[in-house]
Parts: sequence; C-alpha cells; structure tokens
Amino acid sequence: MSNSYDDPAFFAEYAKMSRSQDGLKGAGEWPDFKRLLPSLVGKRVLDLGCGYGWHCRYVAENGAASVIGVDSSKRMLAKARSQTDDASITYVQADLATFDHPAASFDLVISSLALHYVADLTGLMARIAAMLAPGGTVLFTIEHPLFTAEGHEQWVQTMAGDAVWPVDRYFDEGLRTTTFLGQPVPKYHHTLQTIVGSVLSAGLTLRDLVEPQGSKADQRDHAPWTRAPMMLIIRADKR
Ligand SMILES: C[S@@+](CC[C@H](N)C(=O)[O-])C[C@H]1O[C@@H](n2cnc3c(N)ncnc32)[C@H](O)[C@@H]1O
Repeated sequence: MSNSYDDPAFFAEYAKMSRSQDGLKGAGEWPDFKRLLPSLVGKRVLDLGCGYGWHCRYVAENGAASVIGVDSSKRMLAKARSQTDDASITYVQADLATFDHPAASFDLVISSLALHYVADLTGLMARIAAMLAPGGTVLFTIEHPLFTAEGHEQWVQTMAGDAVWPVDRYFDEGLRTTTFLGQPVPKYHHTLQTIVGSVLSAGLTLRDLVEPQGSKADQRDHAPWTRAPMMLIIRADKR
C-alpha cells in the first residue's frame, strides 16, 4: 500500500500548501462543500482519505456522534491524530481500494480530493452505498475529468503565445502519473460519465453537482483554476 503522501519530501511540500496551513478556510472549494453538507447532529460519519483530519474535526465540532477518518498514509494519520483528543474521532489506516464496513453503519460519507486515487470508482461507490443507512448522504470532491484527462497537469502555450489547459485522452480512463509538489504521483482519470455513473449504478440519488471556481489565493498552490475546472463536488442520497 504505497502512498506518495508518505514520501518525506512530498509530505514536507504538502505541509506548505495553504490548505495544510490554514485548513478548511485555505481550501477554495470549502464554501461549496460546506453548503452541501446535510445536518451533522447525531450523525455517524466516515471520511475517506481524511489527510490531516480537517473535515473529521469540523463534523465532530458540529454535532456528529462519531467520525471515522480513513487514510492509507501513516504520516497523514499521525498528523491528524496529533491535532485532536476528541474521543468521538477514530483514525484508521486502510486503502480506499478495499476499505469496507458493516452495512448501514454510517449516515454520512464524505471525501475531499481523495477519490481520484482509486482505480475502481464504481466498486468503491457500491461499497459506500452499502455502508450508508437509508436516508444517508455521500458528499465528495474529486479532481475534475478535464483537469486529469491529458495527464501532465501543465498549461501549454499556443502558437499565439496564449496559455491554454490541454484536454486530451479524455476517453482513455485509468492511470496518470503526474508531477505534483515535485514528485511523480499516480492517480486515476475517470470520465464524467464514469463518475456520475458510479453514483447512479450504486442506486444513489444524485442531489447536486458543483464545479467550484478557485480564488486568486488558490493560484499560489496549483494551476489557476479560475479559468479551467480543477474539481467536481457531488452530493448523492440513499433512499
Ligand atoms: C489531497 S489529500 C486530501 C486530504 C483531506 N481529505 C483534505 O481535504 O484535506 C489526499 C489524501 O488521500 C489519501 N490517499 C491517497 N490514496 C489513498 C488510498 N488509496 N487509500 C486511502 N487514502 C488515500 C492521501 O494519503 C491523502 O491524505
């Protein structure tokens, strides 16, 4: 279970990002994500790819009964554990490719910018749907297919000298090894049809789909996503 976030150099660079330093308020998509959250009071919450645990702490502070944060990186989990002594939060080291839990054991499953590390999104969404209790919600942010398609994640210069975001290999789903924070990082490109289809084939009801626009501040960390979409937020509910 190798994970780029356990590489010491990558981990050190990740720590410098605004979302690592400032938490949720340093994440440009947070206002949209927060708006789409259901009521948290008394909920049993699962956070897939929890990283430093910002979302786990937010839901616990806002009334969740229990929170399980799952991540495959030992270093990310150590950081998350060092940030709280809240007994309602449990951190578990596991790979999202195989993580499972008893049926109907969560009311809310959240995931922020981790599902593009999973090859079989359809299989994962079926497991999420099974773990959700009736009336439950899944809310996730994933890198946008127009962002991941070509694979290099770099602006290119046209002959006229303009910078454009390249979209290519869109229908060629699967592994992309991009350079992020100076390291080669494997991730998976899924088309919009696959992402939305994974939700629908799991029997969930699509409630919202948002393409958040980054702020000028986000440009410090990544390719400017004020001009091209970088992520997609989806909310779906279980009947
Ligand atoms: C971009 S970070 C997001 C962290 C956190 N959700 C947030 O928004 O602050 C992605 C996280 O996904 C985790 N991750 C990547 N691949 C994973 C996998 N296959 N299984 C579990 N966690 C994974 C990484 O260790 C990292 O903590």
